[in-house]
Amino acid sequence: MWRYLVTAGTLFRPVIRFDSVTSTMDVLAALAEDGASSGTTVVAGVQTAGRGRSGRAWTTPPDTAVLMSTLLRPPRPLSKCGIFALLTGLAVAHAIEPWTGRTGEIKWPNDVLIGGRKVDGILISARPGAAPESATLIAGIGINVTTAAESLPPGATNVQLHTARAVTPAMVLQALDGSLQEVYARFCEDDLDATLVELNERLAFRGQDVTVEDGPRKIAGRVHGVTRDGGLVLNQNGRSVLIRSGELTRGPRPIEP
Ligand code: BTN
Repeated sequence: MWRYLVTAGTLFRPVIRFDSVTSTMDVLAALAEDGASSGTTVVAGVQTAGRGRSGRAWTTPPDTAVLMSTLLRPPRPLSKCGIFALLTGLAVAHAIEPWTGRTGEIKWPNDVLIGGRKVDGILISARPGAAPESATLIAGIGINVTTAAESLPPGATNVQLHTARAVTPAMVLQALDGSLQEVYARFCEDDLDATLVELNERLAFRGQDVTVEDGPRKIAGRVHGVTRDGGLVLNQNGRSVLIRSGELTRGPRPIEP
């Protein structure tokens, strides 16, 4: 049962707020099936079956994190939506910087880091839209805001740890409403040149050696940058390799032949 509904957001409207849900992704997917409009956003205090990428669970204690999914119906074909996870990460980085005072790094394909630690995870569900050249996107966003250190997974952080000022999930959600609206407008207009430059400036591990695991494939190389369609370019012994999906970890260079 929803608790309350807010309609005054910039991008997020209406916002449907629940105390507890299985996953905001499931609730919003059902609303999307029923024809919910672009901007419809589901927010929860806690999730009983929150999920991350690659089937991982996403668990946070009640009311300590932004747990939300937003439905967007951009006038962009699905083939042009590969960059949307990175754009969402950029919007999250912008939203939290007034508190952290630090430049949030974007870890390909979809995390935001502060000082090398994960503060946010993003899960995108994308389908072709009802109209030609349109898509239906559900962006699931989890931001650790006041989550106690002992409840954070290894390598994670929260926003509150980086500021002496009070911060709550509701405050961060409001900031994200504005910052996601900005990048979403540029995405809809295909006006992404400057945004792509910023994404690459903020790209975690740029110039460093990493390994990307994509199913059974393991690709090692040095991070060069991200492309307009959201791919990652690695430099592998002098040759560029474009990777479209996978899990990135910092790691050793492949052995030179
Ligand atoms: C990841 O880092 O693997 C992605 C995590 C995404 C978590 C968010 S929390 C809100 C939304 N609902 C979910 O079940 N998952 C996303």
